Amino acid sequence: MASVTLSDISKSYGKVSVIEHLDLEIRDKEFIVLVGPSGCGKSTLLRMIAGLEDITAGKISIAERMVNNLEPRDRDIAMVFQNYALYPHMNVYKNISFGLRARKMAKADIDTHVNRVAEILDIKDLLNRKPSELSGGQRQRVAMGRAMVRNPAVFLFDEPLSNLDAKLRASMRAEIKKLHRTVETTMIYVTHDQVEAMTLADRIVIMDQGKIQQIGTPMEVYQAPANQFVAGFIGSPEMNFIKSRDGITLGIRPEDIYLAESATLDKGKNVKAVVEVVEPLGAETLLIAFYDGIKITAKLNGLIDIEAGMEVKLTLDMSRAHLFGKDGERV
Ligand SMILES: Nc1ncnc2c1ncn2[C@@H]1O[C@H](COP(=O)(O)OP(=O)(O)OP(=O)(O)O)[C@@H](O)[C@H]1O
Ligand SMILES: [Mg+2]
Repeated sequence: MASVTLSDISKSYGKVSVIEHLDLEIRDKEFIVLVGPSGCGKSTLLRMIAGLEDITAGKISIAERMVNNLEPRDRDIAMVFQNYALYPHMNVYKNISFGLRARKMAKADIDTHVNRVAEILDIKDLLNRKPSELSGGQRQRVAMGRAMVRNPAVFLFDEPLSNLDAKLRASMRAEIKKLHRTVETTMIYVTHDQVEAMTLADRIVIMDQGKIQQIGTPMEVYQAPANQFVAGFIGSPEMNFIKSRDGITLGIRPEDIYLAESATLDKGKNVKAVVEVVEPLGAETLLIAFYDGIKITAKLNGLIDIEAGMEVKLTLDMSRAHLFGKDGERV
């Protein structure tokens, strides 16, 4: 059980600054998801919490204990990476218990720990298999088991599901959510996946260029993005941005645009647009269209009988529009 506090953290590699004066307070048992563009410093931040990377300035506390000078193994954390290397010559039991055996734990206790996590992760039947005899999702669960067996105070995940196919990702995502409920441990999770971020997080931290842009619940960052960067980053497809003459930018999400013929909105703005691309996704259809030289993407319900080149009348739900000033801040 542990809170994690980052106070005025900075990190540079030589002259290159990667993290700048970052403050972040993570509550005990909280599930925090870190998102941001490639290179913004997510892995660096995680590795600093783990103790795998020195910090240039600032203070990191885990469970109210300053850990700046503690070795990774003394920080009571466990980390699962994107490339979880299992030992190929060891079976699942040995892979999971490796750390415990290295610490000379008694055999009976090791057994108890391995069985506990195998139960939670539903891999009891796989304990005698080698990694090569497992599916990707099963391997991923073994890697999690190896982290969990130690009962850490904090779990750190760095894109743990990004090597899996879509179906496995979805089921592992549900597993991780269940795991969090079961073990009630603080979790810090890095992902590029919008759905993972929105569904797993108690709070999402959106970073850009080593700085936090916003911290909030999934609904807060979706409904009330602090600035244009967050607005564009959260949500898929990306929010449409329409610049006006006086420097104000109107933001409208694709899901807040409708075909005028089927829209019944109090605050609707109609535009005539020419369709450039139609992407039928089954449950919904994406339209990429142009009006007055402005490109907009609309996400419409169901399958729609529209082809590229056609002119359509779209209604923008202005009650859900966002305004951003010249500086990108929300107005
Ligand atoms: N050992 C290093 N030496 C120099 N620069 C580094 C080193 N490690 C990382 N960087 C730089 O620090 C920045 C942040 O890297 P980091 O790995 O934290 O990004 P990230 O947000 O995890 O990106 P991604 O989403 O691609 O994994 C990048 O610009 C990267 O090139
Ligand atoms: Mg990374």
